[in-house]
Amino acid sequence: MEPHSFHDLETPAALVDVERLQANLASAGAYCRRWGLHYRPHAKSHKSSELALKQVEAGAVGVAVATPREAEVMAGVVDDVLVAYPLFGGTKLARLLAVPDGVRLSVALDSTEALSCLAAAARGSAREVGVLVEIDVGLRRVGLQTIDQTLRLAAEAARTRGVHYRGIAFYPGHIRVPVAEQTAAIQALSQRLEHYLEALAAAGLEPEIVSGGSTPTLPRSHEIEGMTEIRAGTAIFNDRTTALLGACAWTECAYSVLATVVSTSVPGQAVVDAGSKALAKEEIRASFQDPGSASGFACVLDRPDLRVTALSEEHGVIDLKGSDWRPRPGDLVRVVPNHVCVSVNLFEKLWQLRGDRVVGQWRVEARGR
Ligand SMILES: Cc1ncc(COP(=O)(O)O)c(C=O)c1O
Repeated sequence: MEPHSFHDLETPAALVDVERLQANLASAGAYCRRWGLHYRPHAKSHKSSELALKQVEAGAVGVAVATPREAEVMAGVVDDVLVAYPLFGGTKLARLLAVPDGVRLSVALDSTEALSCLAAAARGSAREVGVLVEIDVGLRRVGLQTIDQTLRLAAEAARTRGVHYRGIAFYPGHIRVPVAEQTAAIQALSQRLEHYLEALAAAGLEPEIVSGGSTPTLPRSHEIEGMTEIRAGTAIFNDRTTALLGACAWTECAYSVLATVVSTSVPGQAVVDAGSKALAKEEIRASFQDPGSASGFACVLDRPDLRVTALSEEHGVIDLKGSDWRPRPGDLVRVVPNHVCVSVNLFEKLWQLRGDRVVGQWRVEARGR
């Protein structure tokens, strides 16, 4: 029997408030139009072709992906896919290059090895793949460390058959402070980018694309001088981290996990059936200077001050201390995880909600490898 209301769903279940999602899409699209930036959302957040199509309707020029599976699924509905991840290994590259011919492919990479593997695979399939040279702007995860390294790899990409040098990519994932406190970090990022862009232009390697962006910095993306496209992914749903950083309002959190209270036996807490296998175990720790600051793994949708403070695989512990809310076993609770993308990846489908009504579902088709 098809569910009519979320009360009919078996828990834990992933819920998406359709109106909030549409509003999030519209505001990202409008922001990009206003500032002349291209919107290339990262599809890792939803892994759904239907949601990618909605992003295109909102103005996206294409999507970013991280895995061959995401590329395969997204290539079914969008005609421009950036793999924002260096791909190694024959099967991964073969899968990427097997997507329909009409899909423009690009890959962000930071090594000669990744470039030559990609170029060889592209030549083998008689296809040309765009290359963005990845630079590290502070996260210290991937990305070249100096201008000289960047010039060398960009020049190599420009002269290598099978690939086409298109520009540079970076991910400002190190900027994790509230939006209002990002000024210094954004200025430092802009200055750093300016040096890279000047050096590339002087070497005749002016980028056509400068791909960056993240959800926490989304509202201030226009201050990142030189960036041409934004890859924010989380922003389609938002999550507890986004709200805590002030990059969205709590009322803009479109995703929640529906859970059932399974026990209230231990005083001061309610235990729900959404554990780390539904919410994912991404912890926010209270800051040392301010022990009362936000912490935990998730919060209750309409009571964001109520936190999930402990998780095991199938249990989530909601701390009720300081609250007069007394849920009973069997009650339903909607929980917003700290990091939506990893929670979505744990579900096969996302239930679409309008108010309490279930109006459809989206399959999370690109999960898995
Ligand atoms: C390379 C890259 N680009 C874009 C994004 C999207 O950022 P956000 O999740 O902040 O929207 C991510 C997120 O992990 C990423 O790793």
